[in-house]
Amino acid sequence: MAHGRFDNPVIAALAGVKDFFRKQDLTDRLKETDRADGKTVLITGANSGLGFGMAVAFAKRGAHVIMACRRQIPEAGEEVKRLSGSDKIEMRYVDFSKIGTIHDFADALEKDGIHIDILVLNAGVALPESRPTESGLEEMFLVNYMSNVILVSRLLASGVVRNKAIAGNAVAGEVPRLLFISSDSHQGSSYIDHEQFGTYEKYGVTKGMNYYSYYKLVLNTYATELSRRLNHEGDIDVIVNVMCPGPVDSKIIKEAPWLLRKILGGIFSIVFKSPEDAAQPAVYMCISEDYAGKTNEYLHMFNVKKMDEKIYIPEEGKKLWDHTYQVWQQYDPMAINYLILAESHTSENPSA
Ligand SMILES: NC(=O)c1ccc[n+]([C@@H]2O[C@H](COP(=O)([O-])OP(=O)(O)OC[C@H]3O[C@@H](n4cnc5c(N)ncnc54)[C@H](OP(=O)(O)O)[C@@H]3O)[C@@H](O)[C@H]2O)c1
Repeated sequence: MAHGRFDNPVIAALAGVKDFFRKQDLTDRLKETDRADGKTVLITGANSGLGFGMAVAFAKRGAHVIMACRRQIPEAGEEVKRLSGSDKIEMRYVDFSKIGTIHDFADALEKDGIHIDILVLNAGVALPESRPTESGLEEMFLVNYMSNVILVSRLLASGVVRNKAIAGNAVAGEVPRLLFISSDSHQGSSYIDHEQFGTYEKYGVTKGMNYYSYYKLVLNTYATELSRRLNHEGDIDVIVNVMCPGPVDSKIIKEAPWLLRKILGGIFSIVFKSPEDAAQPAVYMCISEDYAGKTNEYLHMFNVKKMDEKIYIPEEGKKLWDHTYQVWQQYDPMAINYLILAESHTSENPSA
């Protein structure tokens, strides 16, 4: 059974209000001169909220932006073009609650010869109650956690994200950056339930926030283990970082019950940040020289912070890694083609 820090979504939103007024240490570190010209940036869940804000922000800085979305194709892309003044925007379909579409999406990127320099794993849901997907996995578990693992594994295996460790196609001097969008609400979640990992867990509206925070803890633990396995002291193959945008005026509560939506929507629209403002720390982490060669770092908005201490326990990361690949294999017949990945790199150096 999983436990997050927040039993109540209103309390979680009020914590967000507090974050809104928090001092931001590194705001001035992102410069106008920090550009993404010549870089290809893939953002999941880019038709709305933070993902949309990031698409505009990266496009303004010269990147070729690929918006990976399940809806609003092509309208959202047209809007990003209009707001950024750039036409280097494309949209591609993927639904993270349908595993087959992740494979089709990854296959198409490979077939089209695309190489991604910056991958932002942003798509996420906050569901009011558990929901089965066609694979049998619970939807929030699949969208907020497992789909990220599948996508990252596929892109590393094919070399769409260039790397030395698995695909062997790294280019000297060009280190791709992965950024997992998390939530600081993960702090204080319970230990990962390795016994029940991946099994369908039922929750209702009072526990939805709990599971949301818990799956972010799981996601951050995976990101940390991935960083450990890909990188070794002084030898960074792929930069893997995590960040929480703080409170964003987005559509994240769109599935909440009507009354809750009204209450939270009011708080969101008054004190939460606009998606483009909230996107700035993510852009900073992905393009600034400050983060060149820095991996397994966490930003909470523009503040350097530590994630929950459980995330850094190597044994937790290893167990999660093994269970994750077991669950993938159990629920997806295609997984067998990528299991080499589960063993092909090891966490020899827990400090990276
Ligand atoms: N809002 C906040 O205060 C806050 C705070 C901390 C962290 N975050 C994190 O920020 C990220 C972005 O959320 P947001 O606040 O910007 O909310 P949002 O406006 O609801 O955006 C979420 C994005 O994820 C996409 N998505 C959801 N399910 C998907 C699926 N099955 N397949 C493909 N795409 C899917 C959504 O697409 P659809 O439009 O098709 O649903 C949307 O583009 C999330 O990871 C969230 O956990 C948000």
